[in-house]
Amino acid sequence: MIKYNMVDLVGQYKKIKPEIDEAIIKIMDEASFIGGPAVKSFQKNLEEYLGVKHVIPCANGTDALQVALMALGLEPGDEVITTSFTFIATAEVIALLKLTPVLVDVDPNTFNIDPKAVEKAITEKTKAIIPVHLFGQCADMSALKEIAEKNNLFIIEDTAQAISADYKCKEHGTIKKAGTLGDIGCTSFFPSKNLGAFGDGGAIFTNNDELAEKMRVVVNHGMTVRYYHDYVGVNSRLDSMQAAVLDIKLKHLDEYAQARLNAANYYNNAFANNPKIKTPETADFTTHVFHQYTLVLNGVDREGLMKHLVDKGIASAVYYPVPLHLQKAYLDPRYKEGDFPVTESLSKSVISLPIHTELTEEIQKEITDAFLEFVG
Ligand SMILES: Cc1ncc(COP(=O)(O)O)c(C=O)c1O
Repeated sequence: MIKYNMVDLVGQYKKIKPEIDEAIIKIMDEASFIGGPAVKSFQKNLEEYLGVKHVIPCANGTDALQVALMALGLEPGDEVITTSFTFIATAEVIALLKLTPVLVDVDPNTFNIDPKAVEKAITEKTKAIIPVHLFGQCADMSALKEIAEKNNLFIIEDTAQAISADYKCKEHGTIKKAGTLGDIGCTSFFPSKNLGAFGDGGAIFTNNDELAEKMRVVVNHGMTVRYYHDYVGVNSRLDSMQAAVLDIKLKHLDEYAQARLNAANYYNNAFANNPKIKTPETADFTTHVFHQYTLVLNGVDREGLMKHLVDKGIASAVYYPVPLHLQKAYLDPRYKEGDFPVTESLSKSVISLPIHTELTEEIQKEITDAFLEFVG
């Protein structure tokens, strides 16, 4: 039986249960299930927290990415550059809109999209870049923004895993929140995310009034005035119960990030100076909010290790075992095995350990002892 899961959502809920229960009952009493004050309040509070002009709540992070792409007015065949090492949603929405996903390799230390590889992949059809702030730290946005400006490209940040991370802008030394640096930022409130709902949820961020206006309409069937549809849209609304939960959790987000960072530091110390384990590196331009705590193994039988951990009641996971260009649904004559050596090597050697807001040093000691017992 698993004692220590990757997340502990029950433990987190218990600490804020009275507030959450009251907020959910209020929604039921008022029957304001879609839209209404809870969604508006969360939207405003998130705008303030992120320091961004517009937040557009929507149904999930995948829709957020799709709506962002729909708002840019791209044509079928236009190319969108993204990373080969991410969750499928990023490439999925590009393919669904009949745009062409162009994949590039990642930096071996941060696992984030490599700006040099992005630059090399640009053609006259390239219209946008989607960097993913993977596992909780920002991609190199200064380098990417420079490339985007030079080549007249949009940037959509996928910050599903890095909400609340701070980016230190190279140009002015200012600090901005992940997701507010490009033209559009997208996030997910999937329950296990750093800011997780009690179901699906997502949001889109932008400082651009025109894009905001369009995306607000697109998420609601492209409807400008009731039953008048100026765009082809989608049905992608954040429901009121999720908004109420998120509004309460938003107040704890910084404290949640600190708890994750403390847990990551504990792991880092336990695994320091072991030649078989590479602990996560954080780039100097970003904070890390540790959505995942991901190690790179060197000469360790990963399957054997995971089985050993399960025998001790400890969960672990591999994000992601198959690079995007080798996924069956995305096989493409443009790509073959060997094209993205960093991604391919990471997919064979990474392992993620439980990381969440409820870890104690006692639990982490059990986890690290069990891990090191196998690894040596
Ligand atoms: C990097 C990334 N992008 C997009 C998504 C999609 O979010 P959702 O599951 O809310 O659709 C996820 C969620 O797992 C993700 O990790």
